Amino acid sequence: MKHPLRPLVVAGNWKMYKTVEEAANYFKVFEPWVRSSRLFIYLAVPFISIKTMADMAKDSAIVIGAQNMNDAEEGAFTGEVSGRMLKDAGARFVILGHSERRRLFHEDNSFINRKIQRALSDGLQPILCIGETKNEREQGLTEEVLRRQIHAGLAGLDRMHAARLIVAYEPVWAIGSMSAATPEMTCEAHRFCREGLNELFGDEAERIPILYGGSVKPDNAQELIAQPNVDGFLVGTASLSAESFAKIVHLSENRSFNPSAVSP
Ligand code: PGA
Repeated sequence: MKHPLRPLVVAGNWKMYKTVEEAANYFKVFEPWVRSSRLFIYLAVPFISIKTMADMAKDSAIVIGAQNMNDAEEGAFTGEVSGRMLKDAGARFVILGHSERRRLFHEDNSFINRKIQRALSDGLQPILCIGETKNEREQGLTEEVLRRQIHAGLAGLDRMHAARLIVAYEPVWAIGSMSAATPEMTCEAHRFCREGLNELFGDEAERIPILYGGSVKPDNAQELIAQPNVDGFLVGTASLSAESFAKIVHLSENRSFNPSAVSP
């Protein structure tokens, strides 16, 4: 373990990929490969696969979650899904504030903050995604943007919530781009995030894992996980293949991966 107070988490974000059948087939192949892992392995799957996946994952170390939820308890919100429904289906965590939601669905910090509060009261662990755009980085605004997203996204929470939060630093320009942030950029940005969390939660902030996301692949996982303050990954594209995601899990705990060898 890198830090005594926080777990190492490797989370997959499937986005809008895989039918229920494809999801179940993935699980059957993936689970034996990671059975002996000591990491926390999360999979954020499409809503309709949550129940099937959560049932399959019941006796495994894999934690199933969602990629979004509504901020209201219930109501006339056509097409939306509540935290209570997710929890009931077997989800244990939810990704909130992903840059695709911010950009394509116009979600702002205050909406995201309301969702975070709702997720916590519904018993779901939120993964708050934050990150600067290319433009913001070029203008030297990275630190300011990250602090703003942390302060606004987590407003109104108290120290007691810190142990239940995860933050994912995902530079918008690195997502789905084939080129991750460099280890130096990652190290600096994670430090900004940790400082922002310390301002909000004091010592308790040390319990919050900060994941890196944005073109994490088997090729760069080891170099990135070695950075201080990198407590795991949020993986999009490379989590769609059971083999490459299993490889990332293994590399993150400094083990090599042999797909023909199944963990006991
Ligand atoms: P990527 O996506 O790994 O495909 O860059 C990461 C994410 O969007 O969470």
